[in-house]
This record gives sequence, C-alpha cells and structure tokens, in this order.
Amino acid sequence: MDLPPAPIRWRATAIPFFVAVLFVSTISPSRAIYCDEDDCYDLLGVSQSANASEIKKAYYKLSLKYHPDKNPDPESRKLFVKVANAYEILKDEATREQYDYAIAHPEEVFYNTARYYRAYYGHKTDPRAVLVGLLLILSGFQYLNQSTRYNQAVAMVKKTPAYKNKLRALELERSGGVTNKKKSQKNMDKKTEEDLSKELDLQITGAEMASVWKLLGVRFVLLPYTLGKLLLWTACWFWRYKVKKYPYSWEDASYLTQRSLSIPLDRWRNIDEATKEDLVLRRLWEKSNLESYVAEMRKESKRRR
Ligand SMILES: *[C@@H]1O[C@H](CO)[C@@H](O)[C@H](O)[C@H]1NC(C)=O
Ligand SMILES: *[C@@H]1O[C@H](CO)[C@@H](O)[C@H](O)[C@H]1NC(C)=O
Repeated sequence: MDLPPAPIRWRATAIPFFVAVLFVSTISPSRAIYCDEDDCYDLLGVSQSANASEIKKAYYKLSLKYHPDKNPDPESRKLFVKVANAYEILKDEATREQYDYAIAHPEEVFYNTARYYRAYYGHKTDPRAVLVGLLLILSGFQYLNQSTRYNQAVAMVKKTPAYKNKLRALELERSGGVTNKKKSQKNMDKKTEEDLSKELDLQITGAEMASVWKLLGVRFVLLPYTLGKLLLWTACWFWRYKVKKYPYSWEDASYLTQRSLSIPLDRWRNIDEATKEDLVLRRLWEKSNLESYVAEMRKESKRRR
C-alpha cells in the first residue's frame, strides 16, 4: 500500500477527527436530565416506594387522560410527552435506581449527568452506527482535502511555461502546422485549450487525483479483502521462491529491484524500460550485488566531477 508518510497521514486524520468530535458533542442535548425540573414520581402521581405494577397502572391511566387524540390542546400534549418520559425512566429498574440515587445526592451533578447519558445513549446508540458516522465524516473531509490539493497542483502546473509550450506544440500538431498567426500570438481560445489540456497527461508528483479507493472509510471496509490479498501473496511467494526455489518471475524480480534500491513505485514506473532491464539483470536484491553496484555508482559520480 502506498500511504503518504506518517506525519502527513497523522495530520490529515487528526484535524477532521477533532472537528467530528466537536460536531458530535454539540448535537447531544444539554438540557436538564431525567424529568427536567419535575419529579418523575410526581408526574406519574405515585410515591417513591411504588412497585412496578403500580407505576405501570398509573402511566396507562395518565396516558389515556392526556392522549392527544382526546385532548387536542397543546398543554396536555406536553404533559403526555412528560408522562411518557417519566415512565421510560421509572419502568427500567436500572435507570430508576440511578434516578433515586440522583434525588438522594443532588450535589453530585457531574456524576449523575454522566450516568444519565451513559444509560440514555447506551441504550439507543449502536456503536457500529457511531463508527460508520465517524468514518463517513472523516472520509468526506479527506476527499475534500484530496481534491482541493489536486486542483491546486493542477492550477500551478498549468501556469508553468513548460506546460504552455507543450500545449502549443500539441495545437500545432493538430492543425498540421498551419496556425492562424493572429491567433497563436494571442492566447488560444479557452475551448481549444480545455480540449487539448485533457489530452496532456499531467504528471504531478505529490498530488494525485482524488480517489475513492484511498478514503479511510473505503479502506476500512476493504480491510479484510486487503489483508486476505496480502496473505495470499505472501503465501504464494513463500511457496514459489522459498520452498520450490523457482527463479524469480520478471515481475517479481522487478519488484525486488525497486525495493532494494528504495525507489518509490511511481518513480520506478517512469524509468525507461532499458534502464529497468539493466537494473533487474544485476540481481540487486542480493546484498553483495547491491554493494558492488552502489560502489560502482559512487566511482562513476566521482569520475564525472
Ligand atoms: C490537506 O491536508 C494537508 C495535510 O495532510 C494540509 O497540509 C493541507 O493544507 C490540507 N488541504 C486542505 C485544502 O485542507
Ligand atoms: C404492588 O403494590 C400493590 C398495592 O400496594 C399490591 O396490590 C401488588 O400486589 C404489588 N405488586 C407487586 C408485584 O408487588
């Protein structure tokens, strides 16, 4: 996998991460906990020692009384919601116990609040959903960042004289050498420029076109596949070259050469075939060959100087 170097990767993920955390923390309600200012037991009209069936009965009675179908006025609708909320808290033994504790220890505000949110969101939020949400947010940021960086790089390359010359040469070739003098002196019109620039392969190192395959979310989903592929590749390699001791295939020899010279993959691809062939035939993955090659290169560069 060709990931960017670690510091860049870390910054690229850290910034969106903090933004996401900020975002998530602002959507959690900061309103009062449990039954707001009311007492949950009072809302249901039961005592704190009421048993579960009493609470249930009281809730059914009140919910019938305040049901929006029977009482269309907004006050009773509000009460209906409050009663339902109080019942949600008191019907569950664990949350009722927490609520009783909060009544008995009103001074432990932070502890009570934390317990409330843990119970409340613990029930409702699937951690998988949180993970998916986070990955989506991060991937969105990453995609934006990638495409912005690429567009900036393209804009910069397009301003260079080398690019302009290439474009002009291409135009000349297209028109068979017959160019309108007036036109060529001025800037070529926008439309032709756009058409031609699409054909020029922009080789920009350090910035690639935004790609869905590089997004964190996609990588995460594809992780089992990636790992499986890597495992299979390793196993094949081991079987072929360690167990069976076959000679290296051209492709694998080329891979080993690139690795032993520590040339980045994209630069390796741009090296011309003859040079590559020469390098591969030197079997540089063997230490002694590499050492003598490096010594040779050093001598050569000294001689040139
Ligand atoms: C994208 O992320 C890099 C760090 O990886 C940062 O230097 C750059 O400013 C970001 N670009 C945008 C447009 O956010
Ligand atoms: C709850 O209390 C009521 C009245 O005090 C009583 O009749 C009922 O049996 C109790 N139910 C349970 C399950 O303890």
